[in-house]
Order: sequence, then C-alpha cells, then structure tokens
Amino acid sequence: MKKLVTVSIEGIEPLNILRSKLYEAGLFLSNRSDIAVQIASDFSTLGKCLLTITKGFCIEVALNNADPAQDLQVVFILENRLENLNQTAVMQSGFTKLIDKQGEIFIKRYRFADAVNVDLEALRRILSNKTKEELFDDLNRQNIQLQLEIEERITAEEALHETQRDLVAAEKLAALGGLVAGIAHEINTPVGIGVTAASHLRETIEGFATLCAEGKLKRSDLDTLISSVLELNGIVEENLRRASSLIKSFKEVAVDQTAEDEREFFLKQYVNQVVISLSPNLRNRSIEISLDGIDESILLKTTPGPIAQIFTNLIMNSLVHAFDQDQSGKIEIAAKHNSGVLEMTYSDTGKGIASENIEKIFNPFFTTKRSHGGSGLGMHLVYNIVTKKYLGQIKCESEPNHGVVFHMSLHNVF
Ligand SMILES: Nc1ncnc2c1ncn2[C@@H]1O[C@H](COP(=O)(O)OP(=O)(O)OP(=O)(O)O)[C@@H](O)[C@H]1O
Ligand SMILES: [Mg+2]
Repeated sequence: MKKLVTVSIEGIEPLNILRSKLYEAGLFLSNRSDIAVQIASDFSTLGKCLLTITKGFCIEVALNNADPAQDLQVVFILENRLENLNQTAVMQSGFTKLIDKQGEIFIKRYRFADAVNVDLEALRRILSNKTKEELFDDLNRQNIQLQLEIEERITAEEALHETQRDLVAAEKLAALGGLVAGIAHEINTPVGIGVTAASHLRETIEGFATLCAEGKLKRSDLDTLISSVLELNGIVEENLRRASSLIKSFKEVAVDQTAEDEREFFLKQYVNQVVISLSPNLRNRSIEISLDGIDESILLKTTPGPIAQIFTNLIMNSLVHAFDQDQSGKIEIAAKHNSGVLEMTYSDTGKGIASENIEKIFNPFFTTKRSHGGSGLGMHLVYNIVTKKYLGQIKCESEPNHGVVFHMSLHNVF
C-alpha cells in the first residue's frame, strides 16, 4: 500500500532534532521529494519507508513517475511554511489527484511530535539491516553537508561582524578628521586677526620711531601711540587667548579620541570643552546648549575619549536631525552621581523621532539621512560605548515635534 503522510515541522531546530531521531531509527532524510521517491521505489521490494522534506510542488510529479505497481511507502515531512495559501492549495490538489488516481494513498497530518513517536517505531520495524548501512551513509553525508553549510554561515557572519567593526573604527577616524578640519578653520580666524593687529602695531611703532628720529614728536603723538598700542595689544591678546583655548579643547578632545589612557577629569568642564570643539558647527545656528544640569562636583576617572564621542554624536545629531539650519532650539545635558553610577540625560527640543524608528536608531546603518551623507553609525557607536565599555544602558524617548530625551547610565567611571 502506498502511504503518504505529511508532517508539519517548524524551523530548523526541530528539523535537526528530527534528523538525529531519524538517524537513530536508521531512516533516510532527503529534502528533495523526487529523490526520496526514487529511492523509495528502488527499495520498495524491501518495504522501505523514506522521509522527505518538501515544499510540496514536486510530490505529485515524483509519485506519478514512480512505478505504480511497486509497493511504496513514503513519509513526507513538510517544512511548516504552509501559511502561504497558494502553496497549500497546490499541495492539496496534488494529493487529491493522487488519491483519485491510485485510491490507496491517504493523507494524514501529524504534529511533529506524533510523527516522531508514532511513525518512527513503525518505520523502524520495517527497515532491513541490509540497507540500514547505506541509509546511514547517506545520512552521514547529509550531516557533513549540513555541517559545512553551518560553518560557511558562521564564517560569513564573522566576516560581516568584522566589516561592521571596521566601519565603526572608520567612523571614529572620520569624526576625528571632521574635527581637525573644523578646528583648523576656526583657529584661522583669531590667528589671522592677531597677525593683522600685530603688523598694525609694528607700523604704529615704526611711525612713532620716525617722528622721534626726525625730532618732530609732539605730546599728542605720544598719547595716540599709547592708546593705539593698548588697543592693538588687546586685540592680539584676546585673539591669541581664543586660539589657545580652541587648541586646548581640540588637543584634549582629539587626543582623547585616540588615546586610551585613563585620567581624572571634571565631567562638566570636559563636556564644555567638547561643546567648544564643536563651535564650528554651532556657528550661525541659534542653538542654546545648557550644561546647568551637570553637577559640577562630578569627577570621573576613566578614558575621556568615549565620553567625548557620546556627546559629539548626540550634539551633531541634534544639529543635523532635530533642527533646521535657521531654527532655534535648546539642548540640555544633565548628570548626577547615583550610588556609583553616572546617570546622564541629553535632551533637545527638536523634531523628535517617529515612534516606528525609535527602536531602530541604535542599529548599525540606520539613518534617515542617507542621501545627505548619513552613515547611521553614530548612535550605534554611542550604544556600544554605553553598553559595552561602561556596561550601562541607554534609552531613547521621543515624540514627533517634542524633541528627544536620551537616558544613559554608566558604570565604572568613578
Ligand atoms: N536628536 C535627534 N532628533 C531627531 N532624530 C534623531 C536624533 N538623533 C538621531 N536621530 C535619528 O536617528 C538616526 C540614526 O542616528 P545616527 O547618528 O546613528 O545616524 P546618522 O546621524 O543618520 O548618520 P551618522 O551619524 O553616521 O553620520 C538618524 O538618521 C535620525 O533619524
Ligand atoms: Mg549621527
């Protein structure tokens, strides 16, 4: 009697359990129904039962091609992808035809567990010792194949992770490159003004020296000289100070982004330096950044670079995503020490994030600005720093047009 049994199984895991159970039972498992039927036909005189995993399309063809005179028992194991109604319909029509034509075939649907418990016992009884070894061989070959496929997949996944790590590292360097370019541009202004003022100062003193040499010096010339020298000196001093403070911030932030050394620093001062290092990006924007919520006494002992990266990315995101170029807005950063944990919040008053995107923003490569050069790695980097380096947590709350709030908790920073 020809017997057709369909068994629903779900996912790869039960499939593997099934494979090993079948192996114990000495059964052949093929994922090609035509091959299964072919082998079933070959073994039919011995009354073999075969199992096959099939998507259903070729069952009918395969069984029709088998010699109808042969006594054939086949168990089909169906991958449980039959939510697809068309496929189910195709299968059912196939079965119906088979029933019509051969009469003896019947369809039965078993749960996976039933199939293994009930059918394997029966199947085991009708297996002959002679072919068992051949069936084992076949199963072994399939197992090896499966193993190879799993190894290939693992290698591919490792390569993917490596690429992701490389991209994150490249993103860090690109951020540093951007910082260098921005700061060079920014320093150019005070240094340029300083140079102009210094040469003006030299000309003024040269003019005064000439008057002295020619004996034409008047009291009023001396007064003019004094006020000019003071004024120009003030300009030189102020601009040198500005350049110096930029260089200092830049040095700390830039060095910190590459150096790994731990040091002690006050969080508020440091975040302020990060903000200064971003001043090229803040110029011509009416965005107020308030650090009032950071407790001044918070002294951290950690590598400062990652802290700079967290705030650089968050602030840049507010500038790029939250506010239009001419829009005014506010960014607030707050931090407090809570029983050995550093709790920080970052918020802006910008456009916010659509609810369906909130879950995705920490995913690598998620960006809503791909066409504007966004790579979607910024928040992934922040997430990794907070969760992996500082073993902490980061959560985002946002509603469209009501800004964003990021809550972060960092460990091992004191
Ligand atoms: N403050 C914010 N306001 C509104 N949307 C934001 C804000 N911060 C992040 N987003 C959203 O989260 C997405 C992911 O941010 P992420 O920093 O990872 O990538 P990106 O800024 O688009 O690109 P990249 O930082 O790599 O240049 C952004 O594309 C944006 O849609
Ligand atoms: Mg970003």
